Order: sequence, then structure tokens, then C-alpha cells
Amino acid sequence: MFGKIVEWIDDRIPMTRVWNMHIAQYPAPKNFNFWYFFGSLAMLVLVNQILTGIWLTMNYVPSAEGAFASVEYIMRDVEYGWLLRYLHSTGASAFFIVVYMHMFRGMIYGSYQKPRELLWLFGMFIFLALMAEAFMGYLLPWGQMSFWGAQVIISLFGAIPVIGDDLTLWIRGDYVISGATLNRFFALHVIALPLVIVILVFLHIVALHEVGSNNPDGIDNKRKKGTVAEEDKPKFKFHEYYTDKKDIIDAIPFHPYYTVKDIVGVVGFLILFCWVVFFMPAMGGFFLEAPNFEPANPLKTPAHIFPVWYFTPFYAILRAIPDKLMGVAAMGASIVVLALLPWIDRGSVRSVRYRCGFHKWNIAGFVVTFVLLGWVGATPQTDFKTLVSQICTVTYFMFFVLLFVYSKNEKTKPLPERLTK
Ligand code: HEM
Repeated sequence: MFGKIVEWIDDRIPMTRVWNMHIAQYPAPKNFNFWYFFGSLAMLVLVNQILTGIWLTMNYVPSAEGAFASVEYIMRDVEYGWLLRYLHSTGASAFFIVVYMHMFRGMIYGSYQKPRELLWLFGMFIFLALMAEAFMGYLLPWGQMSFWGAQVIISLFGAIPVIGDDLTLWIRGDYVISGATLNRFFALHVIALPLVIVILVFLHIVALHEVGSNNPDGIDNKRKKGTVAEEDKPKFKFHEYYTDKKDIIDAIPFHPYYTVKDIVGVVGFLILFCWVVFFMPAMGGFFLEAPNFEPANPLKTPAHIFPVWYFTPFYAILRAIPDKLMGVAAMGASIVVLALLPWIDRGSVRSVRYRCGFHKWNIAGFVVTFVLLGWVGATPQTDFKTLVSQICTVTYFMFFVLLFVYSKNEKTKPLPERLTK
């Protein structure tokens, strides 16, 4: 009976073919490690955000008069409303943790290098859309930090010469942040941007499967057709799409090997995630900021205005430069430069395992810089922290400059013939 139904569907849409091609018989390198959990985790968090978002929308009121009270109503009166909201708010932070880890994996294993440049670019567009999505979502509870955070960020567009003022007016839909702003952010947050993100994720996976996954060794596991001895070929069935033109070595089918392995990642992730949701959903003010438990008040500016933690590294770069326009330009450049990594890195070896010692130090320095920027951006400014943010802004961009310089004639270690463990 089940077989008949599947056959009936397969005659009408390529369900089994797509399943085999992209999951069951996708040849995945055999050496994926911890860092390869984060792609599937990003998908899990995306689904969580969409589902909890739909249910939150059922009781949320997108108006300046009703928004704050409707969130309180969800928290106190809607059955399991508190759970839906905490799953969604914790999910937002989890999304960025997962995506930062996922991007870092790409950096250490050179997954952005040829032929995966477009895959990386789709990733960067996802990252931009995700930032816009999180920023607009944060206005919706209409708390003090929602209001003033949006005020600060939208006013940044005012620094752009000539069109700045008109642009801020166009974004707000009003002379101040008001119900009109809330309304349009709601529309963009619940439908437009999620749609964009889902489409981009689809393209991201299409691009990945066209060129195949990279791996911790950063070497190809495809060979010219007919060059691999029969006994060296894996004894698994892979889809012809992948084996027709190339010989595949050191690969295993995605299912059941990585479907099962990813479940291990999911369980580990859920333990941490649920611990936050149930025991510390505000995460000491990092995931939900204290001023946001007060309704928005246009007449009372909070003592300190900070974006949520995931924006603070970029925010620190903005604040490091006294001139507003230059600050905005530096902040924009700090994101654009990430998208340009495939062209900045001119090395022929992908993985940090086989690159020069200096590359390891450069990456380590980048991590320290990013964390320090995040810290100074999340805490009140002092002279010392301004200095730290200025030094870190320089070291942030130095990472890319140095990479561009040394990657051309880098002294690398010999690459292994086959994938290591
Ligand atoms: C909603 C957000 C995202 C989702 C759902 C997602 C999903 C995935 C999945 C499922 C994979 C394959 C599994 C894996 O390699 O871990 C993958 C690979 C990859 N992603 Fe993403 N991704 C997201 C965001 C990003 C971002 C922001 C970037 C970087 C700018 C990025 C860059 C990459 C790269 C380079 C690969 C290939 C890695 C390799 O083969 O070594 N992704 N992504």
C-alpha cells in the first residue's frame, strides 16, 4: 500500500529522485567533524523560528497601542504562550550562535574557496537577511530597547550624504518611530524576510550539492572519471548525478550516516537550548535586555542603548570612529569584506590544517578581535573601551589585509592524497 502511494506520487513529482539525490545517496566526505553540525542546526533553528513565529502571530497585536500588552498577554494568559515566546527569543540568539560557528567552520577549512564562492555568497546574503530579520523582530515587543535601539540604527541611514534624511523618513514611514514603523516591520518580519531566507537557504543547498561539500582536510574527494581503482571506490550506492562524470572516493551516503550523526548534534544542541529556554531565557540581559521589560516611551531615553549581543561586534566598529558617516562606512565594510573572502584569500590550500603557521595565528587573532569587539559593543563606553574598539577595528581589517598578502606565496604543508580520518 505504502509502495503504491509512493509510486503514484513519483509518477507526478520526483519525490524519491530528489530524496535520493540530495539526502539518501548524496556522497558526503567521510571525515565531517564537530564543525559540520552547524548547517543542519541552522536549518533546525530556522524551522523553530518559523513555527513559533506563526503561533506568536496568532496573538500578537502589531500596533503601538497594543503590541507591548499583547506580548504580556502571550506570556501570562495564552496557553504555553510563555514557551512559544521564549523558544522564539532564545531561537534568535541561537540562530546567530549557530550561524557564527557555521561561518567560522567555512573560514578555517577554506570552504569559501573555489569552487564554492557562490555558496559562500548565498551564505552572506542569508546572514544579511538574518540581521535584518532580527533587527525588525526586536522592534515588535515595543519595549524601551526595541524603540531606542531602532531609533539609533535607523538614524544611521541619515549619515548617508544627500539621500540620508529622505531615506530614514522612507524607512520609518513617519517623522518618528511610530505605529506605522511597527506595522511595516511586522509585515517584513513575518512574511517578506522569512520568505527571502527560505529561498536563499534553498539556493545555498543547491549550490552546495552542485559542487559537493568541502571537508576538514580541504582536499577534493572527486577524481577524473576512470582514474580510481575499483578496490579504492567506496562500496556504497551514490546517485548517478554525482558519479556519472567523476569518480568519488572517501565518501559515505548522507543517509543513514550523517542523518544519524546530525541527530547527535541536535540532541546536544537541544540540551543547551532547553536549559536556556527553561532556566535563563533572558540570559542575564544578553538575550532579552532589561529595558525591554518596560513599554516604549519616546520621552525617556534609557541610560545605555545597546543592540542585542549578536550585533555588538559590528556596532563596536561603528562607535570606534567618531565621524558618523565614516563609522557607518566602516561597519558596512566590515560585513562586505567577509563576503569578499573567496577573492581575498589567494591560497591554493584550503584547510587551516595544511596552511602556514601564520595563518593559524591570523585566524586566532581574528577570533580574539571579534570577541573583544562584541564585549566593548555590549557595555557602556569608557575611554579605555573606546581605545580597545579602535585597536580591534584595525586588527579586524588587518586580518583580511594580511591574508591577502601572505596567501599568494604561502609556505604550506604537503596535502594528503586521501581524506584523513
Ligand atoms: C539560515 C542559515 C543557514 C543555513 C540553514 C545553512 C545551511 C547549510 C547546510 C545544511 C550546509 C551543509 C552542511 C554543512 O556543511 O554544515 C551548509 C554548508 C555551507 N554553508 Fe551554510 N547555512 C546557513 C548560513 C550560512 C552562512 C551565513 C554562511 C557564510 C557566509 C554559510 C556558508 C556555508 C558554506 C561555505 C558551506 C559549505 C561548507 C563545506 O562544505 O565545508 N552558510 N549550509
